[in-house]
Amino acid sequence: MTDGLGGHASAERLILLLVGAVGAGKGTQASLLSRELGLVHLASGNLFRAALAAGTPLGEAAREYMEAGALVPDEVTIAMFMEELARPAADAGAILDGFPRTVGQAKALDDTLASAGERIRRVLYIEVPTDVLVRRVAGRWICPQCGTTYHEDTDPPDIPGRCDRDGTALRQRDDDRPEVVRARLDKQVPPMLAVVEHYERAGIVDRLDGTQSIEAVTNVILASMGARAAR
Ligand code: AP5
Ligand code: MG
Repeated sequence: MTDGLGGHASAERLILLLVGAVGAGKGTQASLLSRELGLVHLASGNLFRAALAAGTPLGEAAREYMEAGALVPDEVTIAMFMEELARPAADAGAILDGFPRTVGQAKALDDTLASAGERIRRVLYIEVPTDVLVRRVAGRWICPQCGTTYHEDTDPPDIPGRCDRDGTALRQRDDDRPEVVRARLDKQVPPMLAVVEHYERAGIVDRLDGTQSIEAVTNVILASMGARAAR
């Protein structure tokens, strides 16, 4: 029996990492893959937004950075994310969306996984040119109830302004204002590229053309995993 990535099923969890700039489609693909593969979707941005909405100390610690389009400091982010990865929901494995985003976070994650005899199996780097990214986030709408993401042009809901799954009124994100998006690109792309380089040294990065349709990107990812299982 294989684990879908060419290895034999074992106690080692299947951990996949989605990397990409703001609006590249990490959340969209993570949500589809999580349903397809039965793995939990862990998104650092969603965790921070939930903490902000709940008014917890973690949310307060993250607020000023998120509003400025900056990265939340590693010491806050690493502790938060490791706690999520250790929960029973991640026992079968996880799709990581938005973490690690600095080499410091990547090394902390690698060390934690290695101490349990685990590792990141593949890094899926979704590449999209900046002008496309800016248009994508400008048209993004999100369900505050279930987190499903839509786009007013490329992936609209059946009923305008309402979630297909639960009918909740869709919202836009506070940090999707054009000036914050520019700051997110300026401040967060260089450390993201360093993370890609870090995992390229381990030979586990798949570069994906993120300008294809949502479905096409998902199919490329699933096909690459099937191809590995067949080898
Ligand atoms: P986070 O929430 O992770 O934001 P981000 O990385 O900027 O990414 P986005 O969520 O904006 O984009 P996405 O790639 O998920 O795109 P989506 O699938 O929605 O982080 C928010 C903030 O939290 C950060 O700025 C930082 O302050 C903090 N933070 C988070 N993690 C951190 C960390 N590890 N360390 C420190 N700080 C951290 O798609 C976008 C739109 O495009 C949607 O409308 C979608 O429908 C559409 N779309 C998607 N794919 C396609 C396609 N193939 N074709 C056409 N349209 C598409
Ligand atoms: Mg996202």
